[in-house]
Amino acid sequence: RRSLLIGSGLLLSAACSRQFATPGSAAEPDRPLPIPTLLDARQQGQVIALSAQAGKTSFYPGRPSDTFGYNGSYLGPTLRVHRGDEVKVAATNRLSADTTVHWHGLLIPGELDGGPHQPIPPGTTWRPNLPIRQPAATLLYHSHAHGLTAEQVYSGLAGMLIVTDQEEQGLGLPSDYGVDDLPLLIQDRQFQDGRLMMPAGMMTAMQGRRGDTILVNGAPNPLAAVPNRLVRLRLVNGSNARIYDLSFSDGRGFHWIGTEGGLLERSVALRSLTLAPGQRAEILVDFADGRTVSLVTGPDANASMMGMMGNTGMMGGRSGAAGLTSMTVLRFAPRPMGNSGARTSAPDLLVPRVRPDPAKAVRRRRLVLNMGMGGMMGAGGGMALTINGKPFDMGRVDERVRLGDVEIWEVSGQMMKHPIHIHGVHFDVLRRDGGRPDLLDQGARDTILVKEPVELLIRFDQPASTAPFMYHCHVLEHEDNGMMGQFTVS
Ligand code: C2O
Ligand code: CU
Ligand code: CU
Repeated sequence: RRSLLIGSGLLLSAACSRQFATPGSAAEPDRPLPIPTLLDARQQGQVIALSAQAGKTSFYPGRPSDTFGYNGSYLGPTLRVHRGDEVKVAATNRLSADTTVHWHGLLIPGELDGGPHQPIPPGTTWRPNLPIRQPAATLLYHSHAHGLTAEQVYSGLAGMLIVTDQEEQGLGLPSDYGVDDLPLLIQDRQFQDGRLMMPAGMMTAMQGRRGDTILVNGAPNPLAAVPNRLVRLRLVNGSNARIYDLSFSDGRGFHWIGTEGGLLERSVALRSLTLAPGQRAEILVDFADGRTVSLVTGPDANASMMGMMGNTGMMGGRSGAAGLTSMTVLRFAPRPMGNSGARTSAPDLLVPRVRPDPAKAVRRRRLVLNMGMGGMMGAGGGMALTINGKPFDMGRVDERVRLGDVEIWEVSGQMMKHPIHIHGVHFDVLRRDGGRPDLLDQGARDTILVKEPVELLIRFDQPASTAPFMYHCHVLEHEDNGMMGQFTVS
């Protein structure tokens, strides 16, 4: 398999490289799916250097856009770390504003978390040592700078973080990075004449930044060359706000094997999967029939709310329709590629997992993700985004949890579906809307969609006393505009 390095630090497979003519047109030819460079911590001597920097990215030929990236112009390398190791990171800020590097889903103490309390001022380097003590999983890293998260992530400050361990390796799952184990960082972005634009205005605070184009690993309309056998897809929703409803164009089924916290106990046969911002899923898809097929998404789960706002003329601009329609995410072209020795059918049993006993819960807390229209003027302009009526305040600790405790958090959201994310923990969904959880609620989670009340069973194993953890809506504009709180664990 031939590949070449391009300036942005992305590895392009040389499968297909036609030029394309009219950006944004439906008849656009395919471009090969870029595969982010893999930095394996063991091969790097357990030292990973990241540089947050500005650059130019040509999403469409001859139309450079101003973007941010880690070690490149847009997005960042895929980091692979091994359970049991300790990884030294040197994260340098070469931007002109503060940034942070948050390890979303990594179970580490609060002061290593890379949230708003660990700013990296311009020209400086942050050096956390990360103990890797959790099962294999697909995580991500991204900017979490106070008030700047949405803009910095939209501009490109995000990348994938893979945890691996012997248990996962023993399952024989497809694991050849970029060949039969594909990282797919999915984002929607708004373009104008082939150049990335940053939607602004009061409605971006309410519905989040959305776009008319779906990028996978930074490429619009990509084609992935895959072996004609079982392939693992690591799906990461890196959008600021869009919720995907993913399925295959020919209706084929697939096996869901992993969620935010790692592999499920058993694989689950599915035909579609919802993925909210911040969520990840690992799936196995069989391409043995050799047919070209697309991964597509249905309308956003919040489309009716957005359609309502669109009809009142509040959204403005082209992004008004974004997310309301079905779209192609990427296409797969299977072809013979030899055998990696990986299994050819999905395993039934994956990794056993002991969840906390709900009877051990010592406390119940309630969080309501509020969207208040009119009345008080929030940062979003005419609207207040809060949790339990309080907009985020870095100087206020909202909840104090005892280290090692099991608790039940009941979370609900107003007006639309909100992806609630809690730092420093993986939780189980106990109940949804007073009843049993949905099929898609299972497994160890760190981000889950709520509107109707959802009960989360959480054990707090990571200390956060010198710096608190965050909980927030992962619609990044909601987070930046106040829908966030913080808690200590000690
Ligand atoms: Cu992915 Cu608090 O963030
Ligand atoms: Cu996080
Ligand atoms: Cu929200």
